[in-house]
Amino acid sequence: MSRARNGAASSSEVRSELTAFGPGKIIVIGEHAAVYGMPVLAGAIQRGVTARAVPGPTRIQAPPELTPPQAEALQRAFAAAAGDVGLSVSVTSDLPVGVGLGSSAALSVAVSRVLLQARGKPFGVKEVRELAAKMEGEFHGTPSGVDHTTSARGELILYRKEGPTKAVKAKKPVRIVVAIAGVRTPTKTTVAGLRERRMTWPKRYARLFGEIGVLAAEAARAVTRGDLAELGDLMTVNHGLLWGMGLSSERLDAMVRRMRSLGALGAKLTGAGGDGGAVIGLFEDPSDALKRLTADGVQCFESTL
Ligand code: MEV
Repeated sequence: MSRARNGAASSSEVRSELTAFGPGKIIVIGEHAAVYGMPVLAGAIQRGVTARAVPGPTRIQAPPELTPPQAEALQRAFAAAAGDVGLSVSVTSDLPVGVGLGSSAALSVAVSRVLLQARGKPFGVKEVRELAAKMEGEFHGTPSGVDHTTSARGELILYRKEGPTKAVKAKKPVRIVVAIAGVRTPTKTTVAGLRERRMTWPKRYARLFGEIGVLAAEAARAVTRGDLAELGDLMTVNHGLLWGMGLSSERLDAMVRRMRSLGALGAKLTGAGGDGGAVIGLFEDPSDALKRLTADGVQCFESTL
């Protein structure tokens, strides 16, 4: 995203409201392996968080849907990024919170953008990423950085923790149905559980993470060629590996099966997994699947990458 698109207010302009948007994200292939340096294919979605800031005492108003621990993390994250900027910030979101769609990263990016606008100097993706990383550190400890990088760039990317991030241009629209399969344990807990299993059986887990990295790179090539059948197959294989590593659950598996029975070319959990969270399904045309899931009371929506 260009500096112009991020925008910047001159300090004299910070008399009225500043607003900025941070999109949510979905991981198409490669969650968890990303933490161990493997490539991950992730895309920004149309839903996200909007931050509004007005001159006033430096504070952020926690959205009512946050749990007390999430609201405390938000206050710490804001304090880490804002310093004494003299802005009162509020946020609104159309992104389900805590289900693996990058809500904390979207919030960090939206808030970072208003803070940077208030400084009145030109800025770009690099500055947004750096400031959002400070906030994400408070929410997630030591994240791979894929969530806030995807949100800051606002596009489909092949991300690597250490190494250049590449934009991935889709030859055909990648139409994804996102379905929520219930609340889940926090990302920190799921990542820590996996770290323990990896420390117990390091060679096997290194092989599995390596294989997921290969799937992500193959998926980026399939997207570039417009080969949706191959992308779908890669997603389902990735779900199988995540299941094998103890990251899925009955609810997530049932939703994956449901998506497949509704005609998905591939389906998998997305984000940290655990007991609940979000499942994604790839469809040539998702209209019928969306209708049927909605009729069954499933919270779902489409996003095109
Ligand atoms: C969370 O969206 C993705 C994880 O891979 C954690 C991370 O990359 O920091 C589970």
